[in-house]
Amino acid sequence: MFVSSTIDELAPERQAVRDAVLGLRLIPVMAESAARPHPRRDINRAYLRESHLFVGIYWQGFGDPPGVEEEFECAADLPKLVYVKQPAPDRDPRLAAMLARIQQDARVSYRIFGTAGELRHMIRDDIALLLSERFATPEPEPDPQLANVPAPSSPILGRDAEIAQLRKLLTDPDVRLVTLTGPGGVGKTRLATELAGLLAGAYPDGVRFVELSTVTTPDLVGAALAQALGLHTTAGRPPIEDVEAYLRNRTLLLVIDNFEQVAEAAPVISRLLSAAPEVTALATSRAALRLTGEYTVEVPPLPLPEPNSDYSDARTGAVRLFVDRARAAKRDFALTPQNTQAVIEICRRLDGLPLAIELAAAKVRVLPPPALLERLRKGVGTLSGGARDLPVRQRTLRNTIAWSHDLLTPAQRRLFCHLGVFAGGFDLDSVDALFGPDDVEPLDVLVESSLVKQEAGEGEPRFRMLDSIREYALERLRDTGLWHDAHAANAAYFLALAERLELLLGFEPSAIERLETEHDNINASMNWFIDDRDYEQAIHLSWLIWVFWWLHGHVEEGVRYLDQVADEASDLSEQATALLLVGTGAMAFVSGDLDRSQADLTRSRALLLALGDDGNVPAVSGVLGTIAMRRGLNARARELLEETRLLGERFGKEWVHSLYYSRMGNIALSEGDTDVAARIFEEGLEIAERSHDRLGAVVDLYSLAVTAITTGDVDGAEAYLREGMTHSAEAGDRGSMAFWLEAMADIRIRQGRLDRAVRLTAAARTLRSASTAVWLRSFAPEWPAVNGGMPGLRTELGEASFAAAWARGSQDDLGSAVRFALGLDPG
Ligand SMILES: Nc1ncnc2c1ncn2[C@@H]1O[C@H](COP(=O)(O)OP(=O)(O)O)[C@@H](O)[C@H]1O
Ligand SMILES: [Mg+2]
Repeated sequence: MFVSSTIDELAPERQAVRDAVLGLRLIPVMAESAARPHPRRDINRAYLRESHLFVGIYWQGFGDPPGVEEEFECAADLPKLVYVKQPAPDRDPRLAAMLARIQQDARVSYRIFGTAGELRHMIRDDIALLLSERFATPEPEPDPQLANVPAPSSPILGRDAEIAQLRKLLTDPDVRLVTLTGPGGVGKTRLATELAGLLAGAYPDGVRFVELSTVTTPDLVGAALAQALGLHTTAGRPPIEDVEAYLRNRTLLLVIDNFEQVAEAAPVISRLLSAAPEVTALATSRAALRLTGEYTVEVPPLPLPEPNSDYSDARTGAVRLFVDRARAAKRDFALTPQNTQAVIEICRRLDGLPLAIELAAAKVRVLPPPALLERLRKGVGTLSGGARDLPVRQRTLRNTIAWSHDLLTPAQRRLFCHLGVFAGGFDLDSVDALFGPDDVEPLDVLVESSLVKQEAGEGEPRFRMLDSIREYALERLRDTGLWHDAHAANAAYFLALAERLELLLGFEPSAIERLETEHDNINASMNWFIDDRDYEQAIHLSWLIWVFWWLHGHVEEGVRYLDQVADEASDLSEQATALLLVGTGAMAFVSGDLDRSQADLTRSRALLLALGDDGNVPAVSGVLGTIAMRRGLNARARELLEETRLLGERFGKEWVHSLYYSRMGNIALSEGDTDVAARIFEEGLEIAERSHDRLGAVVDLYSLAVTAITTGDVDGAEAYLREGMTHSAEAGDRGSMAFWLEAMADIRIRQGRLDRAVRLTAAARTLRSASTAVWLRSFAPEWPAVNGGMPGLRTELGEASFAAAWARGSQDDLGSAVRFALGLDPG
């Protein structure tokens, strides 16, 4: 940092600047113009080259020519902070002229001060802000390269030519967007996953895979992208902005599967690609996206042998796929000179469509190839008109699915149709619950027939249908007249699941992970209730899962649903309206929109009181009290919080007490009464632990840590942080982890363990992703960070150690970061 001023005045100011700068762990170079007989142009230049910031302090004098102006000019492109002391009755006209010029310069921060004390404050704040901005520019990286690309369960066949062509296209720097087109079942997704695996190493930040098949409207594309990228979204800010921010400084391949679902949202891709110049997109879609710069590659069916080829020439992609899948159905199946003609004929009749071939081959156990061919001739109909004949191929696939379906028994068909309702796959529990445990046998048959796929992976088995098959299942469901009942049953099932999990949310990480696994199904239920105009159930569901929305960064999604209900529902009961407003108010609160939150909660409190539903009031007044407190209206805050306590006691809601205590402690803390604050937080913590209110305990522990650090008790603060972090992790609270890590980093700075601080900060930034507002931030007091933080650390640690620690932190995942913060992993 280069500080320029004249020597014969401003001595106390220079001292103030020096203090402020040293306090930020930066090194000031004090250049005092006119102190020396000769201009020190070269020396100044050398110093300025080493500096990141120019600070000019001016009052009346100009110094001997070229005076302070020379240093100012030398600073060229550095960020410049200029502080001018007033009043200045005897200002040198040369200085006055120079200042007049500087004031016109939009790139210079120009501020007036009176006393040295004032200057010290100004300068400290300005520098900290400036440095945090400078520091914020380089985004840390990367997550594991192939993070979310689905693992293929068998090798890809017959795609050498396409892979070579696409590899070349995708690694060409001029190509930004490639779309794989073709009918359902032709192998677009399979080819895209293969390329993702092959090319992961070619992009420094790897590959991200986004699957849009459960996205129902174009508006949700941004949210789906954010979710697939693992970003926590916030209300009040479109998720696409978070996605943009995330992609902006990354070099990666973004694979987007099933774009045809939301064709109108194609411009979103253009927008992302222009915001993120180092991102290449690979989309799959039944039709081209029609964007400028788009390269479309039509995925052809698998290569077929010529009719009547003999056994030795028959092994093209299509035949190999048939043999592979037939072997899965019948272990000893083999291509022989005797069955070759029938197999070739089957593959040709199915147009080389991989999905159709899979469905047919699955029947080999009961139907040897000649018999299979016979059945297909009748069932699937005539041969298509050639390789480029798209509509015919679609018909071929449809007919093959129908054919496979027709071979099922009535019970199997019923199950098949219903399974189409699941939006994001399903597990055996769900099938048991909806169809009774006896119906697992039909599921076996569906899996054997390739109509349902078992997902790869350890643990509880999960199943899903390929899109084309799911579409057919839903079509049949409509035909059988069971559409409404099946959807209602699914929605009720997931509502019941949410009911069972509700009390565990915030306690049992497995409960919240379960909801995450069923996220698409839960959303489908929510959509069903809303579409079915069953708004009270939609509101009920939101009351069951709000903790999940909070802790897993889905607040924006929650707001969207609740707003939709508010918009559409005209005849809600007053009770339901009040609960809806509690929901929208609470979501607005945690995403930082205090005005909206206050408006909604004030209305709902009035409604609840008028209805005599006093049991729900304490939580509402607790949040309203928090808002009053945040606005500095402590008296009003205390009133509201008293209401929380009184009604909470009356209705035996213990967790509400801990809300009361943590708020009251906050007020004391904001009034500087740390002793009282600590006592109140302790009481709150005791109550929270007694009533197993884990989130309450998390807030109290964080608040206690803040209180301890405020009084300079670093060890005490660390102990609270460790405990709170453990609670948070045990509650599955991903959203807050960045705050714990940042606070822990600050502790490490105070302990002089700087490399640890750097790694923790880097991990916190990675985990915090693009958005920052999470629930803990809304309830706990702000962490008083010790100083300017990172920039000072960079200087003190030296570039190499800093970079090494930063790199390690950037690669931490949640688990390793927490272990490191708790000292369980020595680093
Ligand atoms: N080249 C291939 N090799 C092996 N299996 C394939 C190949 N292409 C497609 N498949 C299989 O065929 C089925 C349909 O392919 P998929 O990629 O889902 O089609 P699409 O995305 O075009 O609808 C899947 O089960 C897939 O694994
Ligand atoms: Mg697909």
